[in-house]
Amino acid sequence: MKAVLFDLDGVITDTAKFHFLAWRELGAELGIEVDEKFNEELKGVSRLDSLERILAQGGVSDKYSPAEKETLCTKKNEHYLELIQEMTPDDILPGILPLLEELRAAELKTIITSASKNAPGILALLQVRDYFDDIVDPATVAAGKPAPDIFLAGASLAGVQPADCIGVEDAASGVEAIKAAAIAAVAVGDERVLWLADHVLPSTANLSLAVLRRTWMKAKANG
Ligand code: BG6
Ligand code: MG
Repeated sequence: MKAVLFDLDGVITDTAKFHFLAWRELGAELGIEVDEKFNEELKGVSRLDSLERILAQGGVSDKYSPAEKETLCTKKNEHYLELIQEMTPDDILPGILPLLEELRAAELKTIITSASKNAPGILALLQVRDYFDDIVDPATVAAGKPAPDIFLAGASLAGVQPADCIGVEDAASGVEAIKAAAIAAVAVGDERVLWLADHVLPSTANLSLAVLRRTWMKAKANG
């Protein structure tokens, strides 16, 4: 194991709840209900793809032009940015800082493989940018999660083979993307949602270098 590919939202910090609030409000304005169950399907999914799914949920996929969709995405993002602007290093999820320290000490590569265009800003608010060797720019990958592209790009930025990486995710679409890239996957959250992962942990507090190594070995053995 040479590199760890990190999702951001829901793994490094709990922005998932702010994405949910912002989509729920936009949905309400459009007359479409976004509840927590449906929101699970939006986790890991890009901004525009999330909007498309919400419109499909409301049966209005064809109602808005590309320019109108762009405006709706901007509106959601402005609300989201308002919600997250108070974030500080105290909002880093439990276990993440000790893990990042362990990875640094072990000289493993660390890459952010998030669908979020806000990732650089969030890492700055949390003051953790220096723990990561690089950030994949989601605008440069052809297909979003659950396609494998962003994790393959992460392995490439780390300068290692996918087989030498492990990915950390909280979303079903993200775990699917990791496995489609033939990369070992550790997931944080509900096992019933994240069952495709090689190992599921209830909380980020359970993450450690030892757990990542064990999961990577298990995935390798399962081939
Ligand atoms: C993912 C989130 O990390 O990033 C999604 O799980 C979000 O909920 C996606 O839609 C895109 O984020 P952003 O910040 O570019 O709108
Ligand atoms: Mg996530």
